[in-house]
Amino acid sequence: MTPTPVVDLISVTKHYVHGVTALDDVSIGFGAGTFTAVMGPSGSGKSTMLQCAAGLDRPSSGQVLVDGRDLATLSDRKLTLLRRDRIGFVFQSFNLLPSLTAAHNVALPLRLAGRRPDPQAVRRGLAAVGLAERMNHRPAEMSGGQQQRVAIARALVTRPAVLFADEPTGALDANTSRDVLRLMRDLVDRQAQTIIMVTHDPVAAAYADRVVFLADGRVYGELHDPSAELVATRMLQLEASC
Ligand SMILES: Nc1ncnc2c1ncn2[C@@H]1O[C@H](COP(=O)(O)OP(=O)(O)OP(=O)(O)O)[C@@H](O)[C@H]1O
Ligand SMILES: [Mg+2]
Repeated sequence: MTPTPVVDLISVTKHYVHGVTALDDVSIGFGAGTFTAVMGPSGSGKSTMLQCAAGLDRPSSGQVLVDGRDLATLSDRKLTLLRRDRIGFVFQSFNLLPSLTAAHNVALPLRLAGRRPDPQAVRRGLAAVGLAERMNHRPAEMSGGQQQRVAIARALVTRPAVLFADEPTGALDANTSRDVLRLMRDLVDRQAQTIIMVTHDPVAAAYADRVVFLADGRVYGELHDPSAELVATRMLQLEASC
């Protein structure tokens, strides 16, 4: 029996103004404890897919299920709670608060939820991303890779069912990218974290279990246990056919 996906998109279509169809009848599931990379040419709908899957944007039609719950049936309040407690999101620009230390940035989602952050849990979260020594550093005192790892620790502090990452290594050099990608791979292997990551980089995609290709808002196949070379070849074919 196939396990129920943690995130399931069923015939999701998203139209924007001016007649843009960013997603065109996309159906895809993401299993628990799996690491998926989403690739495709610029404008193919990758960020739109992530935003719809994370409940940050609403599809024009179709269903999005997270943790078995249909997002369209939730009230605004319930959707906010689901997003807060069950969904983590990291972006290319780390979006840390510059005036707060790493520890306070990580604790922020708990504070916003009205919970008193447990300092040990915050410390463990930073230790898990290899930054136990940087608890009291502010973002400007850290490298880009370290800042992104703080952002990942912050996204995981509520123990979400799924972590979405939209080009998390897009602003990083090759070495710091590797640290962040190894961390994400470790989170999947050791903690069975579910991760869905958009990337333009075939080397980054090769850290995932599966690569899903998008073009013109549609799914154009996938690769399992991808190698960077195979991903790069498929991307060239995809770009040539668009
Ligand atoms: N808020 C918006 N309003 C109107 N059109 C939008 C909006 N957001 C995205 N689009 C359009 O939808 C399509 C898909 O955009 P999306 O941002 O999902 O692409 P992407 O694959 O993430 O691209 P990139 O690799 O450049 O980040 C594009 O044609 C884009 O111009
Ligand atoms: Mg994008």
